[in-house]
Amino acid sequence: MSHSIVIFGASGDLTHRKLIPALYRLSTQGRLPPETHVVGFSRTKFSSDAWRENLAASTAEFLGPLFSPQSWAEFAPSIHYQVGDIGNLEDFLTLAEQLKTLEGSGGGTRVYYLATAPRFFGPAVAHLGQSGLADETHGPRRIVLEKPIGRDLKSAQALNRAVAAVFTERQVFRIDHYLGKETVQNLLVLRFANTIFEPLWNRNYIDHVQITVAEEVTVGHRAGYYDSAGVMRDMFQNHLLQLMMVTAMEVPARFDADLVRNEKVKVLEAVRYLDTAEVAQRTLRGQYDGYLSEPGVDASSQTATFGAIHLSIDNWRWQGVPFYLRSGKAMSCRTTQIVVQFRQPPHSMFVTDRHASIDANRLVVQIQPAEGIQLHFQTKVPDHEMKLRMTELDFQFAREFSGQLPDAYQPLLLDALEGDASLFARSDEVEHSWKIIDPILRAWKETGEPALHIYEPGFWGPAESIDWMRRQGREWFDTCPVLGNPT
Ligand code: BG6
Repeated sequence: MSHSIVIFGASGDLTHRKLIPALYRLSTQGRLPPETHVVGFSRTKFSSDAWRENLAASTAEFLGPLFSPQSWAEFAPSIHYQVGDIGNLEDFLTLAEQLKTLEGSGGGTRVYYLATAPRFFGPAVAHLGQSGLADETHGPRRIVLEKPIGRDLKSAQALNRAVAAVFTERQVFRIDHYLGKETVQNLLVLRFANTIFEPLWNRNYIDHVQITVAEEVTVGHRAGYYDSAGVMRDMFQNHLLQLMMVTAMEVPARFDADLVRNEKVKVLEAVRYLDTAEVAQRTLRGQYDGYLSEPGVDASSQTATFGAIHLSIDNWRWQGVPFYLRSGKAMSCRTTQIVVQFRQPPHSMFVTDRHASIDANRLVVQIQPAEGIQLHFQTKVPDHEMKLRMTELDFQFAREFSGQLPDAYQPLLLDALEGDASLFARSDEVEHSWKIIDPILRAWKETGEPALHIYEPGFWGPAESIDWMRRQGREWFDTCPVLGNPT
């Protein structure tokens, strides 16, 4: 049976930067199911040949040395293109005919990938339904939705309803590419395939958790989207909350899509929603200096490009353990890390000054770009009486495993083709995430509190962020990962 992946928004950025390079890599590794067709659908007028050439150039650009003209020549014949307008039902009927011709009498599995601007999701889903493309008589039909799923709870619910009118939840794959990252999946393995961490993974031993997604890049040419989204919608509602769920969830009985997602949803259900006064205290927002001059940004824009929030998870395991989530553009370096800060030893026999304390243990999960895990602990400095120093056990993927880590889209595209939704967001997960984010966005807009701090690019966001943490008796772990050849 054949497999087809139909990309709506085929002439867009995501298709060129991520989807086609990922499919090409999978094909060179022999990991795509046999007879996989890639069909692009977009308004831009291309022949299949012209689209292939266009993709060859962009894939070579994005993959650099991983691209080879020979293996591209083997992959290219599986690529096809159809000029089509998402607003036009006729074009979906033509697409249905094209797919039937490609698949032949055996039928096949189809994945419809919506890589379009979100305003096209509704019409695309409706037309997939009306043209019979969602019908599963001749094989499984799945739909992949890119973020953002709505821009608040209400719009996310409306979109979920529109999708549910055509597809059952089993057919729907809401992508959050963070879940495709090897290091995020490895967090599940770290927690649930080892016995030594789990007994400590709770309020008895953990003081707080910091989750940082820092980016060095600025908004650049994406202002059209970003200025109305801002950091909360762009990063927190999806990627940061996903990282928090994986850090905080209970162990599911099996690695099964629904069991995993049930546990993740329980974390969101336990998060305390912030009221207006709490938003002023427990959140922080900033905008990098120069944002207003980015092309396409409104001159009086109040959009936050940096945010930090302090969330509480009201359950038995996490009661009283703050989760600090932080993300920003134009920061010091690109790093995504989860810092699990353990409690101070209850008493130290080594410190003579009773007001002094020693640094507590810390587990740092480096999601990217220096993928790895470090455990920080106290050590005696040799030949220095009882002088202590923080040292670390350092695991690095690059040192331990050969080969390049796959791009997050590779495993996710394969999962969608194979029908495994474990690493995709379910409708209730998305809606619960909005329930946490909506009150923050509302309070920011209505009260102007906390103030929007302008920060200098190249640091760790607004300077106020340091004081904000200090007021809570804590400090950010601001460390850029060391890159380079591990020895
Ligand atoms: C996207 C956001 O979802 O994730 C971007 O829209 C952001 O603004 C990107 O830059 C970060 O992804 P990654 O994989 O580079 O960390």
